[in-house]
Amino acid sequence: MPRVTLLEPTGPVLRSAVLSLAPSEEEAVWSGRASDTLPAAEADPTRHPVAMIDEAGVPVGFLVLDLGARSRRYARGGDEIGVHGFFVDLGHRRRGIARGAIEALPAYVAEHHPQITSIALTVVVENRPAVGAYLAGGMHDTGDLFLGGTNGPQHVMRMSVHERH
Ligand SMILES: CC(C)(COP(=O)(O)OP(=O)(O)OC[C@H]1O[C@@H](n2cnc3c(N)ncnc32)[C@H](O)[C@@H]1OP(=O)(O)O)[C@@H](O)C(=O)NCCC(=O)NCCS
Repeated sequence: MPRVTLLEPTGPVLRSAVLSLAPSEEEAVWSGRASDTLPAAEADPTRHPVAMIDEAGVPVGFLVLDLGARSRRYARGGDEIGVHGFFVDLGHRRRGIARGAIEALPAYVAEHHPQITSIALTVVVENRPAVGAYLAGGMHDTGDLFLGGTNGPQHVMRMSVHERH
């Protein structure tokens, strides 16, 4: 059984659980909080909210798949989807949730966005936990730096939808 299941938080029970998930105050600068990023995604047809569910069925993290202008600043174009707002709730860290969510992304994207062949994201160079978690999950560091963010230089990472873990 996969360590993490990805689900669109459409029903009211899951939606409300996701709204209560958050990183720490200091970390919110990296990812935002679901109480802001979920409603913003719901209001934008180019953003697709995704909940991370653990083996016990508990919602433990959140991310947004993004086909809009934000992602176009570093992603390739029509065949590539961006990842934003990625965090694991403070109470569920170091259980392999972030790694498991990245591992589960190719199959999720293939099912929900069949036109997409590649997944891309940026991560602030000094955010060592996130850099480590993304690499552990199977993202590849392209070696490119994205300099358009407000929190300093960011690594550009990418993985193929056809990679399965
Ligand atoms: C980064 C983050 C998503 C990691 O979530 P997580 O579920 O705790 O990570 P995992 O348990 O899957 O960790 C996988 C690997 O990542 C690395 N890692 C994760 N957290 C780490 C930390 N605090 N310090 C150092 N390495 C870390 C380790 O290599 C870890 O493997 P290990 O536990 O076998 O050593 C989480 O700390 C978080 O939500 N941070 C705040 C928001 C954020 O920065 N989001 C990223 C925006 S780009």
